[in-house]
Amino acid sequence: MSTSEQSAGSTAQHAQHLNPKVVVISVAAAIGGFLFGFDTSVINGAVNALSDEFALGAGLTGFAVSSALIGCAVGAWFAGSLSNRFGRIPVMVIAAILFFISAIGSGLAFGVWDLIVWRVVGGLGVGAASVIAPAYIAEVAPARYRGRLGSLQQLAIVLGIFTALLSNALLANTAGGAAESFWFGVDAWRWMFMIEAIPAAVYGVMALFLPESPRYLIAKNELDKASRVLYDFTGELDVNLKIEQIRRTLEREEKASLRDLVGGRFGLKPIVWIGILLSLFQQLVGINVIFYYSTTLWQSVGFDENQDLLTSTFTSVMNIVATIIAILLVDRVGRRLMLLVGSAGMTVSLGLMALAFSFGEIAPGTDAITLPDPWSTVALISANAFVMFFGTTWGPLVWVLLGEMFPNRIRASALAVAAAAQWAANWAVSATFPSLSTVGLSFAYGLYALFALLSLLFVFLWVPETKDRELEDMEDLQLGRTKKTTT
Ligand code: GLC
Repeated sequence: MSTSEQSAGSTAQHAQHLNPKVVVISVAAAIGGFLFGFDTSVINGAVNALSDEFALGAGLTGFAVSSALIGCAVGAWFAGSLSNRFGRIPVMVIAAILFFISAIGSGLAFGVWDLIVWRVVGGLGVGAASVIAPAYIAEVAPARYRGRLGSLQQLAIVLGIFTALLSNALLANTAGGAAESFWFGVDAWRWMFMIEAIPAAVYGVMALFLPESPRYLIAKNELDKASRVLYDFTGELDVNLKIEQIRRTLEREEKASLRDLVGGRFGLKPIVWIGILLSLFQQLVGINVIFYYSTTLWQSVGFDENQDLLTSTFTSVMNIVATIIAILLVDRVGRRLMLLVGSAGMTVSLGLMALAFSFGEIAPGTDAITLPDPWSTVALISANAFVMFFGTTWGPLVWVLLGEMFPNRIRASALAVAAAAQWAANWAVSATFPSLSTVGLSFAYGLYALFALLSLLFVFLWVPETKDRELEDMEDLQLGRTKKTTT
């Protein structure tokens, strides 16, 4: 009997109930996502104040902002091998410690260079958490609920983005500006960073109470512990059968390593390429340009600086609502269809933004772009539609798929490589946006629309459906709608 037949049988035997413990541990693991969202957007509220404080030019300001993303790529890259070696939980604890140190260090920075070092340290934690949360959640979740539980990571990310926005606004408001001081005479922008120490500590403490992933325990031959976790958390009744299935997928003697990713015609196994491309497309549609450079966008459609916070808050609330919709749909509709709808919607909305900005005019005496009616309305609606399409599909689903679609043996390493590629792409998109927008915003959004269109083709041809499949059956996953196998 094939692995898939056996596990289909075992799934049918014990209709998988969602154990409340699994939800709790998935939420705890996803708090890493909260720190990810918070950390990547907290800098926005602080950037003007810190460039004044340290008298930074545009180049160094840009580098101070984007340096954390470089740390993220490095952190993601190493998280795979560390978690294969020491376990998923120790990596969460290390990430929490890095977050904590970075929060305090950035808040107390003496100058721009040590600030950059602290931001990179925090980035290492964000990158590691971005790998470990999806892997861990997928490894403890029952197949039927894996999409929903995996999407909790994205929910935590968008809540983190929202909270950073709010906390920055509150702190700046209390002090009377991000550069003003209050509480012990410390500037508001410093508090913006230091406040992150609280969720970092919560994450670290919660991680200490989480059980280790059963797939990791089996890889380390700790079968008693593994059967307890499997029995308690995944609702598996026939624990021995499950352990046997997992063991078979881990069979080889040597330790799992990055070398396991090599294979196929193009250097890496096809499924690894799919992970990398999913990551790249998720970023190349330009989502973070909306979040990181929101002021440029909102001012061009007619909002002034004071309304900027309102519109950004509106967009991040919409992103939260979108994620909740995704959570409700993902285990019913399936991953492929949702991604296809998302790509189509993003292509149209980004295309409309490109069209709207082709009517942009430079306001006399400034370098600000404004849009005449009705194009400002078109741009406003399209930008929000874009966030909605992304938030219900590509935002959460890429993280879900990266957590679940790789075979057990290569999961952590493949996820690490794909997430590192994602952080590098995030960095490249955010770093190039200012130059692209000098060529023209219409050109920038047109380029993102092109990537959204390519993502549609990519999903249609290659992305596999993973809904309802056991992790042990990912070995013989079929790519796209074709009958090709992945290995
Ligand atoms: C996804 C992306 C992240 C982005 C977020 C926005 O999690 O990976 O880069 O900031 O969605 O919703």
